[in-house]
Amino acid sequence: MTVVQLVISLLFVSLPKVHCDIFDNIYVVHATDSSVTMTCPVAFNGPLIWKHNNMRVVPKHTTYQAHNITLNYELWFGEYSCWGVTENPEELKKLGSVHLLEEDSDRTVSLLSCGAKSYDCIITCVWTGNDFKAVRLGLGSDCVSSFDGQNNCNWVYPTANLAGFHFNLSHSLSPYAEETAPLVVTAEAIISTSYVREIKRFYLRDIIQPDIPAVKCQLKDQNLNMKVEPPATWSTPRSFFPLEHEIAYILKDNGKEVLSKDLHIPKDVSRVRVHSRDPLVPSSWSQWSPWKNVVTGDKKGKKHKGKHTIRCKTIKNNKTKLS
Ligand SMILES: *[C@@H]1O[C@H](CO)[C@@H](O)[C@H](O)[C@H]1NC(C)=O
Ligand SMILES: *[C@@H]1O[C@H](CO)[C@@H](O)[C@H](O)[C@H]1NC(C)=O
Ligand SMILES: *[C@@H]1O[C@H](CO)[C@@H](O)[C@H](O)[C@H]1NC(C)=O
Repeated sequence: MTVVQLVISLLFVSLPKVHCDIFDNIYVVHATDSSVTMTCPVAFNGPLIWKHNNMRVVPKHTTYQAHNITLNYELWFGEYSCWGVTENPEELKKLGSVHLLEEDSDRTVSLLSCGAKSYDCIITCVWTGNDFKAVRLGLGSDCVSSFDGQNNCNWVYPTANLAGFHFNLSHSLSPYAEETAPLVVTAEAIISTSYVREIKRFYLRDIIQPDIPAVKCQLKDQNLNMKVEPPATWSTPRSFFPLEHEIAYILKDNGKEVLSKDLHIPKDVSRVRVHSRDPLVPSSWSQWSPWKNVVTGDKKGKKHKGKHTIRCKTIKNNKTKLS
């Protein structure tokens, strides 16, 4: 296989449609269920046979009715494919397949986490179980009802070209109104022959974490004046959606790190960084901005006659060569 062929085949395995098809054709049973009826997803005029994981299904405890197969007492999980018997008895035509899954309700560890960078209409969620075959998420009460194969939920599938299961969900909460009811996100996931459901309820205000702000330094009187710009992803108008900032700086004298909510800090510092949060909620702090070195002099490092200039300089990446 050439690299190009490999890339093309990888692209095809990760097409999102694959995931949709799986969810369209699954049957989920509970540990206490003792029978299930599954329907061949494709119509066919004539007799059908069924295979379980490519082996002909033995008739024991099994009944067939038109496009249906009913299993009793012994439920073997996995893929069931239905095949049409053509005029040539040697030749079977594969019509489609369904998956029989067992609901796994023993999981106690949450695999779903959601966050928002602002009060705007998108929340992002991640499903952290990377060994899952397929995952989909739905927002709202239409998605909460137990699995029944068809409901009014608008399922969202992960973006195919990202590793892992990442989702953008759009909500219609007004950023100006008090939230009165929590958002509810339902996840459905398939691992091996198990079906996992997780439902999370939370208020948007509780999952807010702003992006990293931008910071500049200016020398003002004998202080360093930090100018912090809210991240571009933060809600507007900025007067209605305030952010508070916290500066961390390293003192030149003793190398100690100091935290300050005041944006005027002493000038004898070697490094600064900043993070922000919504002070009203209060939200989680953003990640810290990368450290900036505080340097004296203009861009060429020159001091001007009688006055100092001070800049904060992003610390360049370590450019160590790979050996
Ligand atoms: C096949 O199964 C479906 C769903 O259980 C049912 O609605 C339908 O009546 C069944 N058809 C036959 C012929 O048994
Ligand atoms: C979510 O939306 C953002 C901004 O439009 C985009 O950069 C990101 O790739 C999207 N993520 C997914 C998983 O669709
Ligand atoms: C460069 O890399 C070293 C080792 O990984 C680390 O200790 C140091 O802080 C890095 N320097 C900068 C400026 O990021």
